[in-house]
Amino acid sequence: MTIEWYPGHMSKAREQIKELMRKIDVVVEILDARLPSSSSNYLLQQLRRDKPCIKVLNKNDLADPEVTKSWVRHFRKSANVRALPLSAKQPGEVKQLIKLCRHLAPNRGNPGYPVRAMVIGIPNVGKSTLINTLAGKSLAKVGDKPAITVIAQQIDLHNGILLFDTPGLLWPEMSDQTGAYRLAASGAIGANALDYTNVGVFAARYMAARYPELLRNRYKLSELPEDPHHFLEAAGRHMGCLVSGGAVDVNRAAEAFVREVRAGKLGRVSFEEPETEVEGEMENPDLSGVLPESLH
Ligand code: G4P
Repeated sequence: MTIEWYPGHMSKAREQIKELMRKIDVVVEILDARLPSSSSNYLLQQLRRDKPCIKVLNKNDLADPEVTKSWVRHFRKSANVRALPLSAKQPGEVKQLIKLCRHLAPNRGNPGYPVRAMVIGIPNVGKSTLINTLAGKSLAKVGDKPAITVIAQQIDLHNGILLFDTPGLLWPEMSDQTGAYRLAASGAIGANALDYTNVGVFAARYMAARYPELLRNRYKLSELPEDPHHFLEAAGRHMGCLVSGGAVDVNRAAEAFVREVRAGKLGRVSFEEPETEVEGEMENPDLSGVLPESLH
């Protein structure tokens, strides 16, 4: 099954990004450090060409530090690209972004000639959080609504940097089924319409292959059940997701488990590594029921 996100919106976004690209010096692409590939978007890769780009690996506080290091090495191989792991909630870490913007646009950053940085990313990667931290105050969040014309909001940081915020321009690609599951597990895909049992099974299988200790420790399991459904039952029992009669409510258990993984309650976890396919992925997962109807 091929899934596309609002193809009509994509062509509008293409024109808007192209237009903006002419006016800016640096692209600041916000990615989720736990899934830098699945949280990126091919439109930007196509339109950026050789414009300097900072790949912000946000939510680094939730990602596996060793895997993040390998992503930084990976991005270093591309010309004009720098990767910067950080947490958008940490002003001290976010400061590095300012330095890097200046470094990549050495001819700008003087009075009257600010570095013009386009901030772009799929919903929920932390774009608003980052912009608020950069601005040092809470700016109203502009909705990430697809299929509407969006004017980039300019934010002068008064430190030689002019941000172009681009809400609603980029959406994740959904043609890769495993990527879609990773996005769902990380929380990038809308919370309400998910089939948590499917996402829970995906996350349980992945975690069992990659981070079995984290599962055993969190849910006090001496043996890790091989079958992810059995694992969800055991974890659900531990979390008290029971129905009357004492049976486990597996859907509730799956949702609680996915929320714990997302929030980093089990520990720091990454969902993908550069150029490697990680064991534990679902083969040809059926996405029906996982994603909102409109996205099938
Ligand atoms: P967006 O503009 O790209 O759509 O994302 P937004 O900033 O709204 O952030 C989405 C969620 O990610 C928010 O959580 C936000 O707090 C969280 N977040 C952003 N950056 C980081 C980070 O570096 N580390 C961690 N751990 N979380 C981050 P939320 O639960 O939706 O909202 P809230 O209850 O935290 O306000």
